[in-house]
Amino acid sequence: MSHQKKSNRFYITTPIYYVNDIPHIGHAYTTIAADIVARYNRLRGRDVFFLTGTDEHGQKVEKAAKDKGRSAKEHADLMVDNFKKSWSALSISNDAFIRTTDQEHKKCVMDLLQQLYDKGEIEKRSYCGMYCTPCERFWTEKDITDANCPDCGRPVDKIEEENYFFLMSKYQQRLIDHVEQNPAYVLPETRRNEVLGFLKARPLGDLCISRPKSRLAWGITLPFDDKYTTYVWFDALVNYYSATKYLAPSVRDDWWPADHHLIGKDILTTHSVYWSTMLMALGLPLPRNIFAHGWWTISGSKMSKSLGNVIDPNDMAAKYSADAFRYFLFREVTFGIDGDFSEDALIRRINTDLANDLGNLLSRTLTMAEKYFDGVISKPKPYAGNSFADECSAQLGHIFNETENINWSHLKLHSILENIWNIVGAANNHIARTEPWKLAKNDTDALKAVIFDLWNALRVTAVSIYPFMPSASEAIWKQIGLKSLVDETAQAGDDIFQWDWMPSYDIKIAKGEQLFPRIEKEEKAAKQTLKKEMPKMNEPAADNLIGIEDFAKVQLKVGVVMSAERVEKSEKLIKMQVDTGEQRQIVAGIGKAYTPEELVGKKIVVLANLKPAKLMGVESQGMLLAATDSEGILSVLTLDRDLKQGAGIR
Ligand code: MSP
Repeated sequence: MSHQKKSNRFYITTPIYYVNDIPHIGHAYTTIAADIVARYNRLRGRDVFFLTGTDEHGQKVEKAAKDKGRSAKEHADLMVDNFKKSWSALSISNDAFIRTTDQEHKKCVMDLLQQLYDKGEIEKRSYCGMYCTPCERFWTEKDITDANCPDCGRPVDKIEEENYFFLMSKYQQRLIDHVEQNPAYVLPETRRNEVLGFLKARPLGDLCISRPKSRLAWGITLPFDDKYTTYVWFDALVNYYSATKYLAPSVRDDWWPADHHLIGKDILTTHSVYWSTMLMALGLPLPRNIFAHGWWTISGSKMSKSLGNVIDPNDMAAKYSADAFRYFLFREVTFGIDGDFSEDALIRRINTDLANDLGNLLSRTLTMAEKYFDGVISKPKPYAGNSFADECSAQLGHIFNETENINWSHLKLHSILENIWNIVGAANNHIARTEPWKLAKNDTDALKAVIFDLWNALRVTAVSIYPFMPSASEAIWKQIGLKSLVDETAQAGDDIFQWDWMPSYDIKIAKGEQLFPRIEKEEKAAKQTLKKEMPKMNEPAADNLIGIEDFAKVQLKVGVVMSAERVEKSEKLIKMQVDTGEQRQIVAGIGKAYTPEELVGKKIVVLANLKPAKLMGVESQGMLLAATDSEGILSVLTLDRDLKQGAGIR
């Protein structure tokens, strides 16, 4: 069988979720990630096949159905809707939904099993092992320390029986070679190292792929022995391949191999070892990439039904919008590592990044465009460009230039959002720096150029956020006077990702509703935290008190950041030239919370009479003030009115 996938074809999958569970934040995370990548690739004009679905066989489903007095299939039919409804509430654009109870899938599993059996890749053996029923997996005696499953900690049973084995062990070296020769096969890098470590540490065993029907009836019968049911993982992994044969957009064409299998870190071995070796034995190409992301804890604790802290993604979408929830998950934590979810953190992101940075930029720009130009936007002629336009173009390059960076191919979703917010930050600084309300008094040409640049920054922001926040993206597109982002991108192709693109029609903005209203709960929540802390604050030790004469020694001034850059070899330090009435250099440890670009133009509070000091060899003449809360979120103090630099603070 030859596999000739066309180069503009893009195939991405999520794990298929156990149908007996209710969708939670963990399921939503992988599915939203896949949706983001699928939407991005559609925007790039590729033919996309985005697959998700449910894993419906096996002991867990059989048992859950029995407990409810239903047949396993009836139970699955009822439960599958929970997933479909959640995916629609979260704006998931999957092209197909596979269920392992589909006849076509079952037939494909049987065909592949028969092929492997005929090739001598499957063998019947007598087997004695320790079996964990909830995990549906065998362990060797060596794995077990206290008669409990090393994975879930529940008791295991000793089982002796005849079973069929897939001869996985013979592919050990080939798999090591494949992972070593293809650095992007398993990502992120830490997971790749984990897989290599595992593969090199000890001989790989063979994989038991059958369960006697007497013990498990709910599943696919082995085609060569009807007394056995197929192991649920063998059945489940095949979904990625079987779907290409009956669910892909055009099933006559080849969609295999997948470009990305997105999974959580807990199912890395089943994918990188079982699935890869199954494909090798079948003579099928391996997927291009398996990406294993981290896990979410909830306010610092493991998510569990017994703790009652399971996050329902439907609730989050209903309360805060699907867009905001999607944004949070990929902005808050680097895709790949573990993260902590809390509603307070979500609200903070909504209020700062979405309501304040992006929402205000949109409403300020559109208000000015209406006030000064009756809402008509036109490109100044000639258009000479400027440093702000250059900065935006550079960020667009990081987001869209696939030959120069690996942001999308390596799923660095967090970096992409940072790049986008660099544009938003630069645009807000552009307003602060150019002060359009002053230009309105005496320089219409300059004003027109500023408003055009701000409009254009909103345009490229709308395109860039589309994969992450499809509804907000389309809403911005319409408010800034454009027609349809998806259709216009399809027509314009890659040009639309450039700073220079303009539509061929006249543009009149249509200011609409506020995109991301502030969530007031944060203030309430913050007040509650404050209250909790109040007793401590009300009772300082007497010797902590200072007199007004002590405070008078402190000279605080308003400064404006003129330029900023990172201190070489330091992750944290940023060196700034600050105008506090006089020029001074200030070095501050804020490089993890801010990029140099977003600091430029900010009016900050400077401790002006601090003795100069050297930080990593660089002199700092004073210090800026910043606040850090109990969760380590850092915020540089700025002013809420536009005072002149050098103003004193008391
Ligand atoms: N049915 C198998 C997958 C078969 S794929 C061929 C399965 N299903 S599952 O319903 O348990 O889905 C689990 C997915 O949700 C995994 O990718 C897992 O990592 C993810 N998560 C479950 N809890 C999670 C968190 N708390 N945080 C992030 N993801 C987590 O495994």
